[in-house]
Amino acid sequence: MAVKGVILDLDGVICTTDEYHYHAWKKIADEEGIYFDKEINERCRGVSRMASLEVILERAERSYSDDEKAKLAERKNNYYKESLKELTPDAIFPGVKEHMEEMRRRNIKLAVGSASKNTPTILEQIGLGDYFDAVADGNAVTKSKPDPEVFLVAAQRLGLKPEECLVVEDAVAGVEAALNGNMKAMAVGSAANDQRAPLRAKDLASISVDKILAA
Ligand code: BG6
Ligand code: MG
Repeated sequence: MAVKGVILDLDGVICTTDEYHYHAWKKIADEEGIYFDKEINERCRGVSRMASLEVILERAERSYSDDEKAKLAERKNNYYKESLKELTPDAIFPGVKEHMEEMRRRNIKLAVGSASKNTPTILEQIGLGDYFDAVADGNAVTKSKPDPEVFLVAAQRLGLKPEECLVVEDAVAGVEAALNGNMKAMAVGSAANDQRAPLRAKDLASISVDKILAA
């Protein structure tokens, strides 16, 4: 079935905020005396704030109560939001805007499908506040990727069937979510070696729009 809509993950696909997430979690882990590195961080990609926290706490020497977990997650989010203050349109990955423009010219609908509850703030800061035909984010769903919920909501908001949508993801959990939702998938960045995705590349801009839409 022809691709009629492209659903883009936000952090790590549209913009560089995946790095900001890492630094905020690293600060929390250091403060708590918990070992955390970039490799462990890979498992936080695409998954919700609380699911990310669980990944970090796997290395903790003691257990944390639900109340402590909620406070840690809030502290992390405060660090993260602090770093978002310096976010500008420069944080958009090279070529992404041009690729989206090209898709638009071909009547492709564009949506964001992100686990992040900070999606509206980020889109505003990078100058894409009103850009998308639909946005589905962490505020609209209860299930974390690899559950397909966020992408299904995005497709529904675009008025398209899942089979008509292609998802662009930098997280292994996100690629899995797209496939679980019966959508096509393009894996970029950290997920670029995920053989389950029919399209794989360093970033969105390194495959032509023609090829992407022919997936
Ligand atoms: C995803 C990130 O986009 O959003 C995850 O890849 C993050 O690392 C998740 O945990 C939730 O983000 P937020 O902004 O709601 O804490
Ligand atoms: Mg991502």
